[in-house]
Amino acid sequence: MTSTDRQYFRDMYAANNDPWKFETSSYERRKYALTVDTLTKERYHSAFEPGCSIGVLSELLAPRCERLLVTDIVPSALAQATHRLERYENVVVERRAIPESWPNDTFDLIVLSEIAYYFDAESLPDILSLVVRSTAREAHVLGVHWRGETDYPLTGDAAHEVINSNNNLRRIVRHLEDDFVLDLWERVG
Ligand SMILES: C[S@@+](CC[C@H](N)C(=O)[O-])C[C@H]1O[C@@H](n2cnc3c(N)ncnc32)[C@H](O)[C@@H]1O
Repeated sequence: MTSTDRQYFRDMYAANNDPWKFETSSYERRKYALTVDTLTKERYHSAFEPGCSIGVLSELLAPRCERLLVTDIVPSALAQATHRLERYENVVVERRAIPESWPNDTFDLIVLSEIAYYFDAESLPDILSLVVRSTAREAHVLGVHWRGETDYPLTGDAAHEVINSNNNLRRIVRHLEDDFVLDLWERVG
């Protein structure tokens, strides 16, 4: 398997507006709080969250960023994200697929939350090349992924190992629980 078939995500949202219970799960609420608290800089100039889903994490990131771009491939998820985020003038919601519609911007924060393991060990490095291309030194890359069993191309742990093997990313924070792994990398080189 290479990357997860995009129809999988369209089917998930067709069956349920919030298929991963991002709005209501106490697990997600706590994980999101830890995610945001892991960011070591108070403010980021320009941030990017690919695979934003319905925008629940995006809403917590918004106050920490002067500008935040959030993207997804499923129109119904983006409609919910747009509604949730409309009061944040600093947030832009766009329909974009990675890797082919990676934005042509420079970011000082990229958040890979529950997205990297939908790509395999051959295609994730290409996405990391785009991450490196669109960040300057000292930018931050945050990764957070569930560690349980899935039928995705990579486990959460394996996805983080692939990210960590990129020579331009130096891990500066690691938080490991039975259920999820949360890492923060600094762009070096
Ligand atoms: C599990 S959700 C993660 C949501 C969010 N980042 C969070 O942690 O709350 C994964 C999202 O990635 C989107 N997605 C999957 N493949 C994608 C791709 N190639 N480009 C952009 N978004 C994608 C899916 O539609 C889905 O909404």
